[in-house]
Parts: sequence; C-alpha cells; structure tokens
Amino acid sequence: MSRMLIAGNWKMNLTREEALSLTGKLVSTLSEQRAVDVVLCPPFCYIPLVFQGIKGSTIRLGAQNCHPEPRGAFTGEVSAAMLESMEVQFCIVGHSERRQNFGEDDAFIARKIDALLEEGIWPILCVGETLEERKADKTWSVVSGQLKSCLEHVSAEEVSRIAVAYEPVWAIGTGESAIPQQAEEIHSKIREYLKETYGTGSAEATRIIYGGSVDGENAPEMLNQANINGALVGGASLDVEEFEKIVKAAAEA
Ligand code: 13P
Repeated sequence: MSRMLIAGNWKMNLTREEALSLTGKLVSTLSEQRAVDVVLCPPFCYIPLVFQGIKGSTIRLGAQNCHPEPRGAFTGEVSAAMLESMEVQFCIVGHSERRQNFGEDDAFIARKIDALLEEGIWPILCVGETLEERKADKTWSVVSGQLKSCLEHVSAEEVSRIAVAYEPVWAIGTGESAIPQQAEEIHSKIREYLKETYGTGSAEATRIIYGGSVDGENAPEMLNQANINGALVGGASLDVEEFEKIVKAAAEA
C-alpha cells in the first residue's frame, strides 16, 4: 500500500505574516510525524518563505499551478522549471477553479503534467464532475475523459509519480463533502481505469486522493476507504488544529 498523502491547498489566502505563522505552527506540531507525506501548497509569492520555514522538517513543498513552457512571453505565469529551481516537489494541476475561471482544458493540463514530470516534480492532477454532470449521470464519463486526456502522454513508469485528486466540484468549499461511499465508488473506478491502462503494479502505486470539504471530523471515515490514499484539503488546511486532525487520521488509517 502506498503512503498517505495529505496536501494543503492554501488557494489565494493568507497575508505574509499569516503564512509565516501557519508554517511555524505546522512545523512544530507535525515535524515529528513520518507516517504520512504532508505537502503545503502556498501561493507562489510565499514559496521562498515556506521553503525556509519547513527546512529540516518532514513537511514538503508544493505549488498550486504551473505553466508548461520553461520560459518566455507569458506574463504572470510561473514555469515548472522555475518551481524546480525553488525546490518545489509537488504541484497541483487541473484544479476545477482553474478549469472554470481560467478556461484551462485537458490538453493544456496534459502539457503541464509533461513539464512537471520532466522537472522531477510530482503532479497532483485534479479531476471531478459538477453537480449538473452528477445529476445527469455523467460523473464517470467526465472523470474518465479527464483522466484519459490529461494523462495522454504519461507512461506506466511515470504514472505512479502522479497523485490523482478526485474533487467533485459540488463538494469544494461548500461544507458538503461527498459521503465516503460516494467518493470510494469513483476512486475504485479510477483504480480500475489505471489498472487497465497501465497495469496493476503501476495502478496500485498511484495515489488517489479525495478533495472537497475535508475536515478533522470527516477525515477518519474518508481515509479508511480502500482506494482513498489521502486528501487534498482547502479551507481546513488554513487551520492548524483541523489540518493536524486530518494528518493524524491519515496516519491511523
Ligand atoms: P475545500 O477543502 O475548501 O472544500 O477545498 C477543496 C479543494 O479545492 C482543494 O484543492
């Protein structure tokens, strides 16, 4: 079984002082734990200070996005190569907020994954359906379509370096987490898809994590599902106690 992965997606939150304080508190409470991979994904501008803050601890550094080109005339963007040079180890791609608000499509996300793998950064690929799609019984066709297109150039050797984050759009920031059985149903289908496409060994080594209103209370049951290998946490990652509870639940799962 693969190690649990708990990633905190801070999104566009926190002042510099708050980011410093949160990092410091997390380091003092989580630095001893070794059972779970804990990743912090701050906004780009705080990457250097979080890097300094977590130095010497077991906490790892992630980013929330990247651009597939290594450099060039892409005002406001940050490349995977630049992240690598800042010692970023993980990067979220394909988040629904980027798909919806910035028009990112699967082909563009696939290029980001290629760039990250090339740089030795572990992608966290988000997939998930909207409420409308779920109601129209299209959940699996949407999720499998996103997987197929976003992982188009990925080999069986590479796929286990990717964490797939199933984030039903209707559960993000709503306080309405999917019920664990609903999440597990999709996670097991994702596992099957990976097995069919890349073989059992690679599929079993690939982490499939859940995101959408995860908190300290619902984490234990969620993380005890057979095919849930961690969580991508938004709101609760900004709260030391909640985030700690989630990491503890992962360690005990
Ligand atoms: P919430 O945990 O705030 O619902 O956000 C989930 C998410 O989008 C993580 O990437």
